[in-house]
Amino acid sequence: MQVQVNGKTRQVQREDELLLWVLRDELGLTGTHYGCGIGICGSCTVLVDGQVTRSCLTPVASVAGKAVTTLEGLAKVGRGGVVTLHPVQQAFVENPLQCGWCLPGHVLSAVALLDANPAPTPEQIDDSAGINLCRCGGYNNVRKAVARAAELKRGSL
Ligand code: FES
Ligand code: FES
Repeated sequence: MQVQVNGKTRQVQREDELLLWVLRDELGLTGTHYGCGIGICGSCTVLVDGQVTRSCLTPVASVAGKAVTTLEGLAKVGRGGVVTLHPVQQAFVENPLQCGWCLPGHVLSAVALLDANPAPTPEQIDDSAGINLCRCGGYNNVRKAVARAAELKRGSL
């Protein structure tokens, strides 16, 4: 079967596999992490047609015809290989976490939040961040990063 991942059509052999393992093992997109495997931690988060999705619970067959975005698909690569980070990535560079195990969930949840709501309240940021577990307790920097990403997206540098 074919899937659309980060704007490219990719051929997938393991059609009965979960999306998480197709991304990591078949397509080499290891920015999507494995944590709990039961839909709780958020480290396996991707976007499917712009919606926050736990790839550890998602059969790859269910995303046929849909657009999958992983952490690797956010930055833009321009002429000469110049990389421009997504505003959410830039904001997390400025407000770093520790081990990064939770990063896919926090970054992709923030991308989805800010696409839907360019100016979230602190409570809305907390609600979005809270669906992803951070075992290092980095929620303060997550809050700051999402607020900063909203600023960057609005162009108020
Ligand atoms: S690995 Fe998918 S939610 Fe934890
Ligand atoms: S930074 Fe380690 S789990 Fe969040």
